[in-house]
Amino acid sequence: MTQPPLVLVSNRGPVTFDEQGNVSRGTGGLVTALTGLASHRDAVWVASTMSEGDAVKAREHGGKAFTVRSPQGGEYSVRLVESDPEAYDRFYNIIANPMLWFIQHYLWDLSNAPDIRRHEVEAFEYGYNVVNEDLALAVIEEVNGVSEPVVMIHDYHLYTLPQLVRRARSDAFLHHFIHIPWPQSDAWRVLPNRIREEIYGGLLANDIIGFHTRSYRRNFLQCCRDLMDLDVDFADGTVTYEGREVWVRAYPLPIDASATLRLAASERVGEFEAELLARRREHLILRVDRADLSKNVLRGFSAFDLFLEQHPEFHEQVTFIAQLMPSRLDVPEYAEYLERIEALVAVVNHRHGTPDWMPIQLKLRDNLDEAIAAYKHYDVLIVNAMFDGMNLVAKEGPLVNEHAGVSILSENTGAHEELGEFALSVNPFDIQETADSIHAALTMRESERRRRMDGLKRIVTLRDPGDWIDDQLADIRKKAGGGRAAATSEGH
Ligand code: G6P
Repeated sequence: MTQPPLVLVSNRGPVTFDEQGNVSRGTGGLVTALTGLASHRDAVWVASTMSEGDAVKAREHGGKAFTVRSPQGGEYSVRLVESDPEAYDRFYNIIANPMLWFIQHYLWDLSNAPDIRRHEVEAFEYGYNVVNEDLALAVIEEVNGVSEPVVMIHDYHLYTLPQLVRRARSDAFLHHFIHIPWPQSDAWRVLPNRIREEIYGGLLANDIIGFHTRSYRRNFLQCCRDLMDLDVDFADGTVTYEGREVWVRAYPLPIDASATLRLAASERVGEFEAELLARRREHLILRVDRADLSKNVLRGFSAFDLFLEQHPEFHEQVTFIAQLMPSRLDVPEYAEYLERIEALVAVVNHRHGTPDWMPIQLKLRDNLDEAIAAYKHYDVLIVNAMFDGMNLVAKEGPLVNEHAGVSILSENTGAHEELGEFALSVNPFDIQETADSIHAALTMRESERRRRMDGLKRIVTLRDPGDWIDDQLADIRKKAGGGRAAATSEGH
């Protein structure tokens, strides 16, 4: 049977262009997850322009789809959509980040923020909704002439898009995957009722809504009951909205183990390894993250500070490398967070450092080769996010690590549902527990480290992103074919 063409739509696309027209790969876990699908299937990927270079390309192609080769391999059909810059700014910097991102990661400090004023309400109406409309129109054009098209929508940027597509194409199959946590219902109450209803109404125009974990799926169903007063079936994972049944599913995202291992064996990674090994102390602690508030970078450094204070025998023996990619710097909360990170690193280094030992080495950059080189050699990997949809670092690190390194893993990451058994689980708010875990990891028996590492490696190589997509396509076929809802298969 030939597969029908597929439309993918997300804020960030698989590639981005600089002003000279050079292409590079888009960043973030979402792009990593979808590149395989987009390059192996007859798919067109609709995304917003991210740069002036993207806008130039979009105009060159009259706003239509075009084919592009990614520098990492793979050929894509992409359609880049340029929105009004002011609308895009309101969409990205006021509503998507911080408003929705903070709600969904429980980051608002509610006695202080957010204030909802005209500024926010108008940003939703004239920013968020405008960009959703622009992308929806592109999707509708792409599926023109295709009967029963399948559209796969991604993430929190596009909650109102599905309803716009549904209105134009009642025969379309709409599948929406959300890459970040779905919080409990009260977290949503900071939004005015009308905005909340637009978000839930928009999303419930989908046929299937997917999450990384069973717990986000449960929260979503509970939200539909609490906030929208809808009929929900927790066992089957269904919500009934406007006479239609919407399936809610969990599809935990795996990493692409073979591609990551290939990269780990590359020459470029080897060069970074040589540099790292030349300076390596006895022990290496590592974290790799976007510099995002949800990642809990500050408490990670405070835990290391406490560990050094309580275990002076480790002075000069251990280095903590933190490779953090600056992110969303037009959002004041993010710019301030980066400043606080730099300030705390200076304090800890000043408190414990010596003329030839800098306890924390801060690398503020996005360099995958350098990160993979460090993955290979850590003794301890810290992933202590306050809340995190999945967290792919927690999977990529153990895959390539060669030191039987120990994972310290926050119990509030999506990855913890799969990896918790073989990691040292921490409550990310508990700084003493995190400090104790650093000590436990650094003093753990070799056999115990190996046992845990073998368990992690086994789990992260069980499945790949192709399986993840196949599960979703199988559910699409089942539902489109009038299948029953029961979410019986394991993990759903
Ligand atoms: C998370 C989100 C993605 C997003 C990425 C990077 O992984 O789920 O949708 O692309 O963060 O964030 P940015 O704002 O740089 O796109």
